[in-house]
Amino acid sequence: MTLGGQFAGKTAVVTGAGSGIGEATATTFAARGANVVAVDKNATAAERVAAAITAAGGSAVPYVTDVATEEGAAGMVELALREFGTLSILHNNVFGMETGLLEDITVLGWNETLRLTLTSAFLGTKYAVPAMADAGGGVIVNTASVAGMQPYPGLAAYSAAKAGVMSLTRSTAIEYGPEGIRACAVCPSTVETSSFLQMFGEGTTATWLTSAPPGRRPSPPRTAEELKAIRAAKAAAHLTGKILRPEQVAALVTWLASDEAGGITGVSYPVDAGLTIQAAGPAV
Ligand SMILES: NC(=O)c1ccc[n+]([C@@H]2O[C@H](COP(=O)([O-])OP(=O)(O)OC[C@H]3O[C@@H](n4cnc5c(N)ncnc54)[C@H](O)[C@@H]3O)[C@@H](O)[C@H]2O)c1
Repeated sequence: MTLGGQFAGKTAVVTGAGSGIGEATATTFAARGANVVAVDKNATAAERVAAAITAAGGSAVPYVTDVATEEGAAGMVELALREFGTLSILHNNVFGMETGLLEDITVLGWNETLRLTLTSAFLGTKYAVPAMADAGGGVIVNTASVAGMQPYPGLAAYSAAKAGVMSLTRSTAIEYGPEGIRACAVCPSTVETSSFLQMFGEGTTATWLTSAPPGRRPSPPRTAEELKAIRAAKAAAHLTGKILRPEQVAALVTWLASDEAGGITGVSYPVDAGLTIQAAGPAV
């Protein structure tokens, strides 16, 4: 990791920084010179990532909160301003999901999926834009999903929330472009992260929404062979034949946040190894 770099003097707040895509993004921003606020509800994870960045010569502080609350979203912005004097970049990146057919999704699960996935991004944006506008501009990058473009069966709540994130991205760009604020989204497909392994790793219990009533979670235990076959099918659905790595998503997030992407706003980009360009029907 080197000091200086393209984000020198900038501050990036990354939510869900304790794992997966958020961890890769926080680490990449820091490696390119940004001060990072590593936000996560998991204290151990947030502190681990901030400590690793600092140990590598970068600048980071952990912030432990549920960003899908007003206090959490306001608090992370306040910390960025207090600690580093400015907020230049926000990566809204957390999610939650209840899986299952529409008739099986609980109202609690639906509401929690929207709260964790969409409301979290709204709240981060709501509290970040005044600080960015005061500083003459900034960039917000939201993590959406290919599910927001093309819903998967069994993921109705998550897909709707991610479509909402893409729309929120456009609204942010439209309303705050005149303030010098850009907003973009990334739409990953299958990325090898802890949430992916929770869903498709061996012995999965898929426990994102621990508040859902016991017995209502439609996550039937699958055999090791079935899970292996799902992972292979996920990889085969990519034109590269490989599941994505978090760093590959972080590369797009950080580029969109950079001055090089200064002409781009309001757009949601797939980072999906060609998943969504392929014909859905059978070959002729
Ligand atoms: N992994 C994939 O295949 C994939 C595909 C498409 C989109 N995504 C999206 O990428 C983003 C990151 O996913 P990931 O796979 O890296 O997840 P992950 O499970 O590896 O990490 C998510 C992190 O967010 C934290 N978190 C969750 N809710 C939070 C909250 N309310 N407040 C603060 N922290 C919270 C968790 O503690 C965890 O450290 C999500 O928005 C997800 O929907 C992931």
